[in-house]
Amino acid sequence: MTTAKLRQMKANGEKIAMLTSYDFTLASLVDEAGIDMLLVGDSASNVVCGNQTTLPITVEEMIFLTKGVVRAAQHALVVCDMPFGSYQASEEEAVRSAIKILKESGCDAVKLEGGEEVLPSIRHMIQAGVPVMGHLGLTPQSVNQFGGYGLRAKEEAEAAKLLHDAKLLDEAGCFSIVLEKIPANLAAKVTKAVSCPVIGIGAGNQCDGQVLVLHDMLGLNQGFKPKFLRHFAHLADEVKNATGEYISAVKESSFPNDEESY
Ligand code: KIV
Repeated sequence: MTTAKLRQMKANGEKIAMLTSYDFTLASLVDEAGIDMLLVGDSASNVVCGNQTTLPITVEEMIFLTKGVVRAAQHALVVCDMPFGSYQASEEEAVRSAIKILKESGCDAVKLEGGEEVLPSIRHMIQAGVPVMGHLGLTPQSVNQFGGYGLRAKEEAEAAKLLHDAKLLDEAGCFSIVLEKIPANLAAKVTKAVSCPVIGIGAGNQCDGQVLVLHDMLGLNQGFKPKFLRHFAHLADEVKNATGEYISAVKESSFPNDEESY
C-alpha cells in the first residue's frame, strides 16, 4: 500500500479499511486479512499500558511497538502516532521527532493531532519528506482542554473551524486525515471538500474509510462501548473461557497428557 494508491482508492470510490495494531502477532493476522492501513495509535497508552489517557506514552515506547508492526506488515501502510509532547513545542521538535520515528521504527508515515495550530510543523515535516496524516475532531491528546471525550464540532463555530482546518491540512500535503467523533453530516462535507482520503472513527459512513481500535472491535476491551463501536468478535469471552479451561486442566492434572509430554 502507498499513499498514492490510497488517493486512487478515494478517486475510485473504493473504501479504505484501517485498524490499530500494537504487536507483531496480531498485526500479522490483520495484515494477512487484507487491511489497507495499520495505525500504531497512541491509544497503546490505554490499550497496552493501562493508562487513563494517551498522554504518558513516549516516542521510545511508540517506536518499540511500531517496529513489531512494521515487521508484520507485508501489505498494509504502517502509520505511527506522534505522542503528546513530541511535536507541540516547536516546528524543529516536530521535524526531529518525526524523522526519529520514521528512521528507527521503519514505519511509512506519522500521524499527529491538530489543525491550524500545528500547520507550520506539518509543512516542515512534509518538506523534510515525511508523509503526514492529520487528525481532527476529538483529539484525545487535548482531553484535559476539552474536559472529556464527548462529541466534537456540534456547534457551528467549531464545525466551521474543523472544515477550515481540514482544507489547510489537505493543501499542506497531508496524505490523509482522520476525523474522530464528529457529526456524520460534517464528516461528509469535509470528505467532499478535501482531495486526500478522510478516515472516520465515530464520524458516520460518508468518509473515504474507517478506523477502529483493534482491541475494541475484537471485543477484548469489555468496559468500552461507545455508540460508534461495533464488536466484530467477542474475544474477551473466548480468552476468559480458554483461561478457565486451562486453569482447571492444570489443577486437575489433565494437562499435559501423555501426548503432550516427552
Ligand atoms: O490512537 C488511536 O488509536 C487513534 C485512532 C482512534 C484514530 O488515533
